[in-house]
Amino acid sequence: MEHPNLAGQKEAYLASSLKAYRDRTRNFAMMNSIAALLTDEEIANLAAYYAHLKPCK
Ligand code: HEM
Repeated sequence: MEHPNLAGQKEAYLASSLKAYRDRTRNFAMMNSIAALLTDEEIANLAAYYAHLKPCK
C-alpha cells in the first residue's frame, strides 16, 4: 500500500488522523504502532511540520 502524501495536508487533519491511530478509532497496524508512542505535543509538532512542507505536485 502506498503512503498518503502528507506535505501540505491540513494541520488539523494530520493531528486528528494521528490521534485516531493512537486511539485506535482508525486502524492500520503500522500507523497504530507509531502513533501509540506519541504525546499530544509530538502530534501537534508533527502535524505542523508536515502541513508546512511544500506539496510535491
Ligand atoms: C515506515 C513508516 C510508515 C508507514 C509504512 C506508513 C504507512 C501508512 C499507510 C499505509 C497509511 C494509510 C493507512 C490508512 O488508510 O488508514 C498511512 C497514513 C498516515 N500516516 Fe503513515 N506510515 C509511516 C510513517 C508515518 C510517519 C512517520 C508519519 C508522521 C507524521 C505518518 C503519518 C500518517 C498520517 C497523518 C496518515 C493519515 C493520512 C491521510 O489520511 O491522508 N506516517 N501511513
